[in-house]
Amino acid sequence: MRLSRIAFLFCSIVGLTGLLIQPAMAAEHAKKMTPAALVSYKITDGPAIKAINKSLTGKAGDMVAGEKTMVNKKKGNCLACHVVTKLKARAAKKPKKYADMGLIGPPLDGAAGRYTEGELRMMLVNAKAAFPDTIMPGFYRADKLTRVMGKFKGKTVINAQDVENILAFLVTLK
Ligand code: HEC
Repeated sequence: MRLSRIAFLFCSIVGLTGLLIQPAMAAEHAKKMTPAALVSYKITDGPAIKAINKSLTGKAGDMVAGEKTMVNKKKGNCLACHVVTKLKARAAKKPKKYADMGLIGPPLDGAAGRYTEGELRMMLVNAKAAFPDTIMPGFYRADKLTRVMGKFKGKTVINAQDVENILAFLVTLK
C-alpha cells in the first residue's frame, strides 16, 4: 500500500514536471525552426527579364565573399552548371572547388553585359521568375518547394547578403 503510494507520488511529480517542461521545449524548438523572415522585395520589368532593382540589404556586396559562396558546394555551387573563364586559373591551387565547371547552364562570362544588375539579382533570388522553365535553383526563396527535409523547411539556400555578395562578383563579368 505504502509502496504504491510512493510510486503514485513519484509518477505524479515526474508527469507534472514533464507537462511544465514540454511547452518550454516546444517553444525552444519552434524558435530554432522558424526562419528569420525573408526580406521583401519588389519585382519590376527589366529590359530583358524581370528584375529586382533595389539591394536586398542596403549593404554593399563583397565580391570576394561572393566568389566563396559561389564555389561552396553547399551554397551557390554555381560552377556545377556554369563556366566562369576568369576563375579557371584558380583550379591549379584549389582543384576541388574550381576544376570542374559544368555545361548545364551558359557560361557566365559577359553576363553583366547581357543583363542589368537588377536582372541578375532576380536570377539569384528566384531564377524561375526570370526564366520560367529553368532548372537553375532559386537561391533566396523558401516557398513552393516540395518534400523539403525537416531541418531545411522555411530556409533559403543562401541569405540576402550572400545574394548581394554574389551579385558584386557577377557585375564584374562584363
Ligand atoms: C543546376 C544548374 C544551375 C546552377 C547550380 C546555377 N545555375 Fe545559373 N543557370 C542555369 C541555367 C540552365 C541557366 C539558363 C537559363 C535558362 O534555363 O533558360 C542559368 C542562367 C544563369 C545566368 C544567365 C546567363 C546568361 O547569360 O543568360 C546567370 C547570370 C546565372 N545562371 C548565374 C548563376 C549563379 C551566380 C549561380 C550560383 C549562385 C547559378 N547560376 C547556379 C543553371 C544553373
